[in-house]
Amino acid sequence: MIAGLHQVVAIWLLASSALAAPAPAGGRLWKRAGNPEFQKDFPDPSIMQDSDGMWYSFATAGNGKQVQVAKASNPRGPWEYLDNDLLPNAGSWTTSKNTWAPDVRLLSDGSYVMYYSGEVKSNTAHHCVGTATSRAVLGPYTPSDEPFDCNLSIGGSIDPSGFQDEDGKRYVVYKIDGNSIGHGGSCNNGVAPFIATPILLQEVKEDGVTKVGSPIQILDRSDADGPLVEAPTILRNPDGMYVLFFSSGCFTEPTYNVNYALAKSVRGPYSKSSTPLVTTDDAFGLTAPGGATPVVDGSGIVFHADCAEGRCLFENKIGIQGQKVVLDGVDGIGM
Ligand SMILES: *[C@@H]1O[C@H](CO)[C@@H](O)[C@H](O)[C@H]1NC(C)=O
Repeated sequence: MIAGLHQVVAIWLLASSALAAPAPAGGRLWKRAGNPEFQKDFPDPSIMQDSDGMWYSFATAGNGKQVQVAKASNPRGPWEYLDNDLLPNAGSWTTSKNTWAPDVRLLSDGSYVMYYSGEVKSNTAHHCVGTATSRAVLGPYTPSDEPFDCNLSIGGSIDPSGFQDEDGKRYVVYKIDGNSIGHGGSCNNGVAPFIATPILLQEVKEDGVTKVGSPIQILDRSDADGPLVEAPTILRNPDGMYVLFFSSGCFTEPTYNVNYALAKSVRGPYSKSSTPLVTTDDAFGLTAPGGATPVVDGSGIVFHADCAEGRCLFENKIGIQGQKVVLDGVDGIGM
């Protein structure tokens, strides 16, 4: 969905006023998933709008489910937690346990593709990227018998996310899980020699799963990122700027963040921002924020941060100003 011009202008104006007046300190402007019943462990959230206008957010295994889902009539919530497990069977190559970071996209034929990280049956120290398809947003999803990407010699792969460009081409962006073969320390990659955790971009056909050509690397960790980069998702701003959101740091530590890099083409080159979008102990008082997914029109973003229950769903408006992604900081307007 591409935002109408009036919407884009409204987002722009709100973003500008937020920049002029820095967000006040404290958590007040942040909104935790609306409905007070929905204080649940809901890590690595993704978000999509269905053809009937309803919004869905999907999350990593928890609360007795392998793929969790919540529903809302507005992406700013309130979110209703649904009792469905969207992927009890993650495919014969997986253990169907510890399924991570699901991302669902609506295809042009009205069907749905889910990208996810499945625990590898032959080596449970690793995950690989899988795909599953469904005729209905709440499933049942049928997993492919083969992983989408799985090279265990470089650590397997996780955190897939779908993206459709303005020209209609589809892509899957994901992380080579190099830290799973690291040498210990922070997220198992805090001790030299450090293992690469590249972010790869794979073009796919209209069915969302058939590969077109080979993947290209669009990002990797540097010392500034600590052990890894992961959780990639791509947003195309209406002005033609591509934003690659990712997390760096370790998700179990306060170093985790919502970070981003910018490019003029989906294939890059991407330049990392000098300051992440959300960090522990910034003005919003969250701990270990990360695992973000933007709304496709660029108006908002969902992510998780630590809470008593584990990692809870948070959301906020965003805007893009020149070479920076900014948080609108206005709770309950727009998005
Ligand atoms: C797995 O990765 C290694 C190291 O990059 C590479 O040499 C090998 O060809 C890859 N295997 C497959 C099946 O792609």
